[in-house]
Amino acid sequence: MKTNIKKIGVFTSGGDAPGMNAAIRAVVRTALYHKVEVVGIMKGFEGMITGEFMDMDMHSVANTIHRGGTILKTSRCEEFKTAEGRKKAYDNLKAANIDALIAIGGDGTFVGTDVFGKEYNIPIMGIPGTIDNDLYGTDFTIGYDTAINTVVNAVDKIRDTAESHDRLFIVEVMGRDSGLIALRTAIGVGADSVLIPDSKRDFDFLIKRLEMGRRYKSSKIIMVGEDEEDGGFGMRIGEMVREKFPNYDTRVSVLGHLQRGGKPTCMDRVLASRLGVCAVEQLLKGRKGEMLGLVHKNVAYTPFAAAVKHIEDINDSMLKIVEILSL
Ligand code: F6P
Repeated sequence: MKTNIKKIGVFTSGGDAPGMNAAIRAVVRTALYHKVEVVGIMKGFEGMITGEFMDMDMHSVANTIHRGGTILKTSRCEEFKTAEGRKKAYDNLKAANIDALIAIGGDGTFVGTDVFGKEYNIPIMGIPGTIDNDLYGTDFTIGYDTAINTVVNAVDKIRDTAESHDRLFIVEVMGRDSGLIALRTAIGVGADSVLIPDSKRDFDFLIKRLEMGRRYKSSKIIMVGEDEEDGGFGMRIGEMVREKFPNYDTRVSVLGHLQRGGKPTCMDRVLASRLGVCAVEQLLKGRKGEMLGLVHKNVAYTPFAAAVKHIEDINDSMLKIVEILSL
C-alpha cells in the first residue's frame, strides 16, 4: 500500500438504496483488515458539516448485509453546495484526522465529491448507490436490481386484480429523469407498453395500440417512468387515456418509495461487497476522484465529473422487445 492514509470516513448520501449497508460493511471490514481506522459519517454531507461522526469497528457492521436502507442514514444537503458549508465540512474532517473519504450515492453525491475533492485536495473514491441506475461508468448501480425486483413483484400482484376486473393499469415507477427502471421492468412484467417521459415514440405507439381496441386481452399493464420536472406523469397519462378511451376501465398505481426499501438481492449485495473492498484498496494505493463500477464484469474507474448525469440513452432495442412481446 502506497499512501499514508490512516483514517477513512465513509458515508451514504442522496436517496437510499438497498445494498448500501453491504457496501458500508465491506468498506469498514476492508479498512480494518488493512489496519486503517474507519469512521462513519452520519447523514452524508450534512453530518460532515455538523461533525456527526461515529467510530466503526468489526461489530458496527455485524448483521447489516441483509438490511435495506442505510445504517449511516442519508440526506440531500443544500448547505454543502455552498463554499461556507464545504469549509465547515473540511474543518470537521481535519479535526477528526480523517484523511480520505468513501462516498456511496448517486449523481448529486458525486457532483459534491468532485467539487470538494478538488477544492481541498482530499482523496475520495465513490461507490454507485442509487436505484435509478443512471450513472455512467457502471453497468449497474447498487440498489437497481433490488428495486426492479420489487417493482416486478408489485406489478405481478396488480396484474391479478387487473385481470379479475378487466382493467387497464398505468403503473408509475421511480427513476427521477431516467426511464431505466420503467424500461427494464416493462419487459420483466410483460407490459403492453412503456412510457418514459423523455421518449415521444412510445407515447404515439401507446395511442395506436389503444385505438386498435381491446383485442383479445382483457387487461392491460402500461409501465410509466416518473417525470421529475413537474411530477404526476402517470396521473396525466391516466387522465388522457380515460378521456380518449372511455371504453377502458383505467386505474393508475404510483409505486413510490416502496421501491427504495427492502432486503437487497444477492446481486446487489455482491456488487456492493466487491466495490466496497475495491474502493478501500484503491484509495490506499493512491487512486482518487473516481467512481468505481463494474463494466462487463470488470472493475472500471470513472472520474466523478464523467459519472454524473451521463444518462444512458433509452435503448431502442429494449423498447422494441416490449413491442414485439406485447402482441
Ligand atoms: O434518486 C433516487 C430516487 O428514488 C429517484 O428515483 C426519485 O425521483 C427520488 O429519489 C425521490 O427522492 P426523495 O425521496 O428525496 O423524494
